[in-house]
Amino acid sequence: MNLDDIQKLKKESFAAVQGANDIQSLEEVRVVFLGRTGGKLTAVLRSLKDVPIEDRKKIGPAANALRNELEELLASKLQQLQSKISARKLDLSMPGKRVVTGHLHPLTLVEKEIREIFTSMNFSVVEGPEVESERYNFDALNIPKDHPARDMWDTFWLRQNELKTKSKKRKGGKKSMPHVADRLLLRTHTSPVQIRYMETHKPPFQIIVPGRVFRYEATDASHETNFHQVEGLMVGEHVTLANFKFVIQEFFRKLFNRNLDIRLRPSYFPFVEPGLEVDIQCVKCGGRGCNVCKDSGWLEVMGAGMVHPRVFASVHYNPRDLQGFAFGLGLERIAMIKYNIPDIRLFYSGDVRFIKQF
Ligand code: PHE
Repeated sequence: MNLDDIQKLKKESFAAVQGANDIQSLEEVRVVFLGRTGGKLTAVLRSLKDVPIEDRKKIGPAANALRNELEELLASKLQQLQSKISARKLDLSMPGKRVVTGHLHPLTLVEKEIREIFTSMNFSVVEGPEVESERYNFDALNIPKDHPARDMWDTFWLRQNELKTKSKKRKGGKKSMPHVADRLLLRTHTSPVQIRYMETHKPPFQIIVPGRVFRYEATDASHETNFHQVEGLMVGEHVTLANFKFVIQEFFRKLFNRNLDIRLRPSYFPFVEPGLEVDIQCVKCGGRGCNVCKDSGWLEVMGAGMVHPRVFASVHYNPRDLQGFAFGLGLERIAMIKYNIPDIRLFYSGDVRFIKQF
């Protein structure tokens, strides 16, 4: 072992480092010279202790200097190779990451469209509470307590028990009936907002009321305990059924982008007289008969009628001076017809495979 050997080792190792073209072969070079077991330079450094002291004084510093130089060289070469890789990583022609954006629920879409159509016909959009009192949901709409018409709406009642206990605790020992006049419930339809609006506004006006309603019913493909309606109300001195027919025809023409035949059938709702059921020509078969309209050619889409004089009286309007029409349509039903959806329960399933189609 002499200084020439160190010099040779230097040439050899530097050439090897220069020749390494990737990180892995550079690591291999490091192991060949500086590896803990069997590294060529490591072996030289280890053998120094056996070298006679005179030689060691020269060879020792030279070997150590070589180790430092080689380590530095390896480090700078590694950096060089790494920066080459990151330069290659930045590929400006690579396609961007797809950003998944949210979208509106089909019911929101249909409600939005209905709002737009009616506001374009000068209707205002009004809303009301989902927890309602018995007076607004029933009494003021000419549906008296104990009247069989109440059976038309299966109701979720609230706070009944609480009110009963309160009435028992009354002072004076006098037994009293629970104070039923302000019993609370989940509104079974959007019609109570007719009353709320008329109590605080003077005719003439025309409004729609979109909102959520609740019925205590068994669920199936066309029934849910929780669904949505859009109520309509137009009141003035000379509002007639002919106005209703025009408005509703125009509404369906805009909603389905074509002229659809409309049929009015006599029906019964306590808060209108006469009461009507509105059918539209089947949008799938055009009236010839198919599975959607159950071969009838018609689709039942809303209840309607002329506002009952008793309803006007309950908001202190003079029924002799005013007339109006009212209607109530089921939002889910309209969406099912428009998008050909077979089961109402899909709207609330939270299944993204369904939701993503809109
Ligand atoms: N409120 C009625 C229902 O839910 C629908 C309706 C509204 C009927 C207005 C006539 C007039 O069944």
